[in-house]
Amino acid sequence: MNAQPHAAAAHPYDEVILVLDFGSQTTQLIARRIREVGVCSWMVAPDISAEEVRRYNPKGLVLSGGPASVYVGESPHCDPKIFDLGIPVLGICYGMQETCRVFGCDVAGSEHREFGRALLEINDSTGLLNAIPSRTTVWMSHGDHVQGLDANFEALASTATCTHAAVRHRERPIYAVQFHPEVTHTPHGVDIFRNFAYEICGCHGTWRMADFMTEEIERIRERVGKSRVVCGLSGGVDSSVAAALLANAIGDRLSCIFVDNGLLRKNERQLVESTFRDHFDVDLHVVDAAAQFLGDLAGIDDPQEKRRRIGHRFIDIFKTESAHLDDAHFLAQGTLYPDVIESGHGHAGNSANIKLHHNVGGLPAELGFELVEPLRDLFKDEVRQLGEVLGLPQQIIWRHPFPGPGLAVRVLGEVTEPKLAVLRECDEILLEEIIAANLYRSTSQVFAVLLPVQSVGVMGDGRTYENVVAIRAVETQDFMTADWARIPFDVLATISNRIINEVRGVNRVVYDISSKPPATIEWE
Ligand code: XMP
Repeated sequence: MNAQPHAAAAHPYDEVILVLDFGSQTTQLIARRIREVGVCSWMVAPDISAEEVRRYNPKGLVLSGGPASVYVGESPHCDPKIFDLGIPVLGICYGMQETCRVFGCDVAGSEHREFGRALLEINDSTGLLNAIPSRTTVWMSHGDHVQGLDANFEALASTATCTHAAVRHRERPIYAVQFHPEVTHTPHGVDIFRNFAYEICGCHGTWRMADFMTEEIERIRERVGKSRVVCGLSGGVDSSVAAALLANAIGDRLSCIFVDNGLLRKNERQLVESTFRDHFDVDLHVVDAAAQFLGDLAGIDDPQEKRRRIGHRFIDIFKTESAHLDDAHFLAQGTLYPDVIESGHGHAGNSANIKLHHNVGGLPAELGFELVEPLRDLFKDEVRQLGEVLGLPQQIIWRHPFPGPGLAVRVLGEVTEPKLAVLRECDEILLEEIIAANLYRSTSQVFAVLLPVQSVGVMGDGRTYENVVAIRAVETQDFMTADWARIPFDVLATISNRIINEVRGVNRVVYDISSKPPATIEWE
């Protein structure tokens, strides 16, 4: 759903809304909300020409938010001719300022950035704001704003601090909002996208995840031709869905490689082997590389360096293993959109780099494969939907995600085999209790972290000085933001008792109550 790989003229849908990406962290959420209302949506570069837009024949255009100021020299601008195409436009935040700037309205910086919830008061609830309560909460995140409207525009809604919170062109189907309808903090946001798509763009909402599957299968076939594709299988939902999609597209020209890097959970390798041999008819290669990974990690405690080394080793192993496979030119990965954006690889290239995800940023430049990343535009829950469409077993579809660098980012500091062994035991107990308490499906990710801290305890009559383990359990829709899960105290008590009693070397368990942001889900 991203501009480059889609031949504009060839796309098979009657209804597409393009999102011009000005670099906001939430641009992909816009595309995703539009898909939620049943309309295909792709992100494109912000300066796409009107000519190219016309070739896509879209039903509508959305101009996203972005970190720049429209009146600053180097800020990104759209081709002003896109407003003359007769295609409906919705500008959001920076996209609003850009739309209004093109039409000559006065855009200015304000003394204070406005960040957070605001009460929207609607004075015209037709069209874009149809059936939205006249007073409703919206999420604001901006420094600049549209100060003065010219005669072409009229205001539809305002907040206490923003007179022009939603505006409309008087003659053309051009709308703009200062707030962010794409985030969940704007409770009626999805209704605004539905109104835009159905009432303003005239869409009918017939797009489904099965269409994504059909289109992706075609794209994969076209892209890889007669070549073999190597897929790094981790057993997690992302790589499993990617592998199933590829298996549908190219059948026995898919070879899956599962690397036992020594950083897996207890029994993970056995589970992956049996699951994939039972459910898939793929060429599965299992590589035992624990000694190499642990050797690379010896003496290393910097998180980014750990990821970098693991990433390099992965690729080396893939190269060696795939060298035995004829015609293997492509490497498939289950990279998702949050991985892309958090590694600073967003469309406009200016999102902040928060963590080095080995499957995006850590790839060595001399990589001998071309990458195939069929899930690159999707969020986790969309990948699960796709897994359902592909007929994967529930046990795989609902597995909590597990990071590529595995337990290496959960043993804080230097990674050693004895520390991994302690963490594996704690992690297994934790998962057993979460499943027993029926909390596995209602939580998004649950795991244990071995802290590089020892604490004093007392066991029997003796003093102990042993490890501290942290429990992390989060709830999230998209893994870009997350809240800590309110696990009942009695479940936490059982987990803590069992870990301290059953795992030698741990005398204290703590529960992580940080949300993301400002914390991340993993500790490293
Ligand atoms: P953070 O810690 O960045 O995690 O809030 C967001 C989600 O990404 C997973 N994660 C990774 N997945 N390679 C991966 O494949 C990585 O390097 C990596 N780091 C974090 C994390 O478990 C969570 O689901």
